[in-house]
Amino acid sequence: VSPELQQMHEAHNLLRKFYHHLLVNTKDGQQALEYLLNRGFTMESIEKFQIGYSLNSWDFVCKFLQKRKFPLEIMERAGLVIRREKDNSFFDRFRNRIMFPIFDRKGNPIAFSGRALGDDDPKYLNSPETAIFNKSKILYNFQMARPHIKKLQKAVLFEGFADVISADRAGVENGLATMGTSLTEEHVALIRKNTDSVTVCYDSDQAGIEAANRALEMLTQAGCQVRVAWMPDNLDPDDYIKQYSEEKFRNEVIESSLTYMGFKMRYLRRGKRLNDEGDRLLYIEEVLKEISNLSKAVERDHYLRQLAAEFSLSLEALKQQQKQVYFSKE
Ligand code: CTP
Ligand code: MN
Ligand code: MN
Ligand code: MN
Ligand code: MN
Repeated sequence: VSPELQQMHEAHNLLRKFYHHLLVNTKDGQQALEYLLNRGFTMESIEKFQIGYSLNSWDFVCKFLQKRKFPLEIMERAGLVIRREKDNSFFDRFRNRIMFPIFDRKGNPIAFSGRALGDDDPKYLNSPETAIFNKSKILYNFQMARPHIKKLQKAVLFEGFADVISADRAGVENGLATMGTSLTEEHVALIRKNTDSVTVCYDSDQAGIEAANRALEMLTQAGCQVRVAWMPDNLDPDDYIKQYSEEKFRNEVIESSLTYMGFKMRYLRRGKRLNDEGDRLLYIEEVLKEISNLSKAVERDHYLRQLAAEFSLSLEALKQQQKQVYFSKE
């Protein structure tokens, strides 16, 4: 490893420890700690995920690093400080934020994401892409979840930090998160290397459901058995656990997640009024298309029968339409 990369690693490790210390042991971190505890984070989670707090200061980190002989030019490339255009001086990137360290596969901290304490914009401020942090390859919590994924032969995929941490507290320790970016082929390959069974548990709001649909497609394409969790009232997993319970989350969200077709049917139903003739016919057509894409004949048969029964259609008519529209190339 080059000396520069080593310095980047060391700086992240020192700051991880210091941010954590500020949060749990100091008066400066008290408000942030209260915020987290009010949200339902436990001290145990705060320790396990090494959560911290960055001071409300423009130069605390600059001075901290300088005193320890880290060149600020390198720290800028590490994403920890930012250079001012006008006089080339530096200032701290993360100020007055809850700090979530992001670790590589070996457990070294390589980046941070800082959450605002209130409604500040942006809600989460992330490290930029650096020589040691490639967002499209990193899944949050991979290093701790991996043994659980191996043992259970199953991974759970979330959107965000709070979801992973709350699920972990609820006993779901095989959780990973994409941290706001969409799932990449590299993420998929990393998951696939460790298991072929994945439960997608994104936020049940509009954006989350669309993202879950894309994740479902990508993971299925890569040969994974995929299930999709769907929570009521646009909730995200962290909200759900708080509003209902850890037990309900395990049993009624994770263990009751939808199969590929179960999700597709619910997804295609959204925004449609099935007692409206036009919507109903559109829905039947869209479901028929999904059924035609299934690779297993037994599954196709099963869902065709289900569709026929639900809308009082003859199985013959459905099969005929399917043949005409979707299998005409064969
Ligand atoms: N995210 C981000 N930058 C933002 C907003 C979100 O990087 N400005 C990422 C974070 O990793 C976040 C994830 O996207 O955890 C999901 O976003 P969202 O659902 O909006 O946030 P929550 O995780 O629900 O955050 P919280 O519960 O703290 O409000
Ligand atoms: Mn500690
Ligand atoms: Mn979201
Ligand atoms: Mn969310
Ligand atoms: Mn949330």
